[in-house]
Formats: sequence, C-alpha cells, structure tokens
Amino acid sequence: MKSLSSQGKCPYDRCGGTGFDVIEVDGKEVAVECECREQRLLSNKLEFATIIDEFQNTRIDDYKTDSQHYKKDKSIQRAKMCKKSAQSYVNRFEEMKGKRKGLYFYSQMAGSGKTMLVSAIGNELIHKHKASVKFATAGDLLNAIRSTYSNPDLSCHDLIDAARKVEVLILDDMGQQSIKSDTNDHLFDILNHRVNRDVVTIFSSNCKIEDLPYNFRIRDRITKMAIPIESPNESVRKNLAQQENDELLRDLLVSRGDKQ
Ligand SMILES: Nc1ncnc2c1ncn2[C@@H]1O[C@H](COP(=O)(O)OP(=O)(O)OP(=O)(O)O)[C@@H](O)[C@H]1O
Ligand SMILES: [Mg+2]
Ligand SMILES: [Zn+2]
Repeated sequence: MKSLSSQGKCPYDRCGGTGFDVIEVDGKEVAVECECREQRLLSNKLEFATIIDEFQNTRIDDYKTDSQHYKKDKSIQRAKMCKKSAQSYVNRFEEMKGKRKGLYFYSQMAGSGKTMLVSAIGNELIHKHKASVKFATAGDLLNAIRSTYSNPDLSCHDLIDAARKVEVLILDDMGQQSIKSDTNDHLFDILNHRVNRDVVTIFSSNCKIEDLPYNFRIRDRITKMAIPIESPNESVRKNLAQQENDELLRDLLVSRGDKQ
C-alpha cells in the first residue's frame, strides 16, 4: 500500500499509473491489477478526507514544546513526550504497522495542539513513507457515511470499505459528535476490520479511551489498536492569542507621534 499523493503515477514504478501491470505467464503477456490500483480506488471513495488547510504543510518540527507555547511545566513535559513519540512513531512506521499499532492522543483542553500533531504525523508519513493517509473528524466520517444513504453514486458499503482498508486513517475529535442510532454500528464495523489488518489508525480526543461515549466493544478495539498518550492540558491557542494582544497593547501604549 503506497502513496495516494502521487495519483497518476505508480508508487511501485510498475504500471506507469495505468493500474495494470503486464507480466509474462507461460510465454504469454497478461495484464494483472497493480497493487496501486486498490489504493487509488480507496482514495477516490474517501475524497473528502484530507488534512485541513491550516495544517496542510505542518511537520512535527512545527509542534513547539517551549514556554512560549505552554506555560505550565507539566504541559511542557507532556508536549515533549507527545513530540518524541510522534517522531519515533514516524521513524518506526513499518514496524508499528506490522504490529497494527496506532496512537491515541487525548486531553480535555481545546486548543492544546492535538489536531496539529496528528496532522503533522500524517504529513510526515506521506513524505517519508509514501503512505496512504486519510484524515477526518469522526463526526465528518460518520456524516459522510450517512449521506450515502441518499446518494445513488456512492454506496454506503463502498465508503465504509474504504475507511476499513486505507493504510493510515486519522480520526480527529473522537467522541465529540452527537451519538446517533447508527454511530456504534458504523464505527464498530470500520474499527473491527482495521484491527485485523496491517493498517493503522491515529486518534485524537478530548477524553480517555475508557470515557468515550461509544459501546465497550468499540472502546476495546481502540485500546487494542492504539497507544494512549496524554497530551498537554493547556490551550496554546489562548496563550498565543494573549501574547499577541499583550504585544499589541504595549505597541499601542508606546506613543509614536500620536495620530489625531
Ligand atoms: N505545540 C504547538 N506548537 C505550535 N503551535 C501550536 C501548538 N499547539 C497548538 N498550536 C496552535 O494552536 C492552535 C490550536 O491547536 P489545535 O487545533 O491543534 O488544538 P486542538 O487540541 O486540536 O483543539 P480542539 O480541541 O479545539 O480541536 C493551532 O492554530 C495551532 O497552530
Ligand atoms: Mg482539534
Ligand atoms: Zn501501479
């Protein structure tokens, strides 16, 4: 399973992007499906699921762990742990994929860097490992599945099938969507397949796995398929905004030939 980012080209350098490879069998040339074909078909079905614009080019190095971003020592320690585990995970991706292990970042505080970090990991996996990566909030993925009920062009089964099989699925904001009658069924279906394949899932959430508002069969699968990592419980969004305001206020208070 290789890159979705190199659509049009074959990541295995076998089929020239046609999706079919020509091999010789008993002296005759026959066309067989290239491995890149399945990934391309999956990618098309999950077209909506890409990293959000804000973090499109974010790399793990951009995730800062200094006292400008986090004020509490405890947050700095946690941010360092998150960053280190993200870096090691990317470096040891093939091994982790073999073990079918992903990561689960959680902290209650909004604006603490969870979406930024999981997006950065996705970008690193695309660039360093040519991985097929799809990103969606859990709510968006479930809504997309629901929208297929009334769209004859895309069957619900196709979309669920793509979410089951994509090499790296990043599910942001787990547990934050309202729980509807089909939520547990669809999530279970997707995660139960992923737990038994050489694919990985990277989660972010504002709660611990055991507190997720899904049924226990889903929570058990997530515990099996991802290493939980406690993220800083402090809002970088708020800290940066405060600094920006403080600087602007200082600037306003330094009178530079006051305009009338
Ligand atoms: N460690 C960090 N280094 C640099 N910028 C950061 C860091 N953490 C967060 N930010 C910045 O703070 C903002 C909020 O981060 P992010 O959206 O990742 O938080 P979140 O934990 O996903 O929040 P929410 O719970 O609201 O989804 C972003 O604009 C991001 O650029
Ligand atoms: Mg977020
Ligand atoms: Zn190919």
